[in-house]
Amino acid sequence: MPSSLLFGLAASLSLAVPAYAGFQVQCFSRLFDERLDPIVNPGKLSGHVHVISGGNGFAAAMDFDRARASSCTTCNVRDDLSNYWTPKMYFHAQNGSFLPVPVVGDNQYGNMGGMVIYYNDNRGDVPTDTIHPFPPNFRMLAGNPFKRSATADEAGQAVHMKCLGDGGNVNYPGFPPRKCSGGIRAEVVMPSCWDGVNVDSPDHKSHVAYPVGAVEGGRCPPTHPKRLFSMFYEVTYSTEVFQDMWPDGGSGQPFVLSSGDPVGTGFHADFLNGWDVAVLANAAASCQNTLTPNGNRCQPDYAGADKVLRHMTDQGEAFACKLPSVSGERPNDVLGALLGCNPLTDTEAAARAVSCGGAQKPGGTASTTLANVPLPGGGSFTDTTPLNFSYIGCAADDPAARTFAGSKWVALADMTVPKCLAFCRSNSYAFAGVEWGSECFCGNALPAGRAPVPGAVNKCVKPCNGDSKQTCGGGGAMSLYKACGAAQECVNQPVLRRRRGFLFA
Ligand SMILES: *[C@@H]1O[C@H](CO)[C@@H](O)[C@H](O)[C@H]1NC(C)=O
Ligand SMILES: *[C@@H]1O[C@H](CO)[C@@H](O)[C@H](O)[C@H]1NC(C)=O
Repeated sequence: MPSSLLFGLAASLSLAVPAYAGFQVQCFSRLFDERLDPIVNPGKLSGHVHVISGGNGFAAAMDFDRARASSCTTCNVRDDLSNYWTPKMYFHAQNGSFLPVPVVGDNQYGNMGGMVIYYNDNRGDVPTDTIHPFPPNFRMLAGNPFKRSATADEAGQAVHMKCLGDGGNVNYPGFPPRKCSGGIRAEVVMPSCWDGVNVDSPDHKSHVAYPVGAVEGGRCPPTHPKRLFSMFYEVTYSTEVFQDMWPDGGSGQPFVLSSGDPVGTGFHADFLNGWDVAVLANAAASCQNTLTPNGNRCQPDYAGADKVLRHMTDQGEAFACKLPSVSGERPNDVLGALLGCNPLTDTEAAARAVSCGGAQKPGGTASTTLANVPLPGGGSFTDTTPLNFSYIGCAADDPAARTFAGSKWVALADMTVPKCLAFCRSNSYAFAGVEWGSECFCGNALPAGRAPVPGAVNKCVKPCNGDSKQTCGGGGAMSLYKACGAAQECVNQPVLRRRRGFLFA
């Protein structure tokens, strides 16, 4: 089982074990944290908040074509436009508030941490099995959001939480009952045997299965004879930042999942395929160290002409690949209650019995239908052409060397885009930029190095403090507007232009 960090792998190999076979997709970043799950609740708000990585085609309802039409991904393998998601984690403070737990890599500049997805070649004692690439529209999930106890069965073997730091890295079936100085890494083994026919099933699980006897090795059962890559998710939550805030009085460990799970055994993971099938098929055929002389060519950073994963995304591109909120909710605020209807429940029966008066149930059917989900980027700016300002894009800023030398105005509680425009207009400026939800900058000239990348949402994903439906830049990034009207036609710069347009049912 992979347990070291990605780049520590080579050092951890020993001659006694078979050479590591497979590769890793490193998701540097996330698209957003949002109450969406296109597998379980297509077209609707989902029961609870997820942390979501992968291609920016991600939407409330989506298919393989939409994933493939992504214009960027938060992960390092550009041939892979799949989506990967798991629950968000919260710290339950003594006063009852829920504080968002960062994923390792989250910082104040708006960059978001991600996850690592291992594509392991685990053919157990059947090395001649063929590994099949995931077919178009393939999707699956692992884990059970309602599970509230440790079990020794497959479900229990497939999901665990690793307490990192002092005392060694120890696995627990759910939240560790002690402080973990290096945070908690949630680890999920996805099923790796397929029925060979169905790309999905009503429970999103029964078209796939775990190998018999060992979730990561073993033979595929006759019902599900086709071998897949054995995917292994690692998501590291920075629980250590709450080390000094554990409640007094021994009321147990303080972390909960967004689904209302204070035990942690309900951790789960979703996969929606967006691979270039030919590249994945080549990887399936080529990345078997026991059969091929050069397994390194499967590593994303391999540079030879025979490299298998052909197109890579750098970290900057991954950080810039973001989606604007669909729900308008703010899952990274301090919350009085978990978003959705997710009271804390410590038994599976109680979790399943939650009733919210016809509103959405945790992990169950959501009542809100999201009509006309905007394409990626749509809605990430405010149309102010009637106010004679065009949207230009997301421009870079730097607190140490501002893009605009003109006026600045901060409105911590109630900044909106039109308010910033009015401020800059009253001083007859040509440009108005809103940043970090609350700051307004005006200028007359845009330095070349600070111009927006056409179409990119980049770091401009922070809701305006005065209207969460509007976007007011981000950390070191301004949602930029340019005065128009008399001399210049008012035309908004489109966001993330698609290679193909998709309309939504
Ligand atoms: C509860 O405590 C947390 C942690 O100190 C704090 O961030 C939050 O604002 C508090 N909530 C309320 C409602 O006072
Ligand atoms: C926008 O510009 C046009 C053309 O100059 C002008 O007629 C109109 O009054 C302006 N609208 C606003 C809201 O300033």
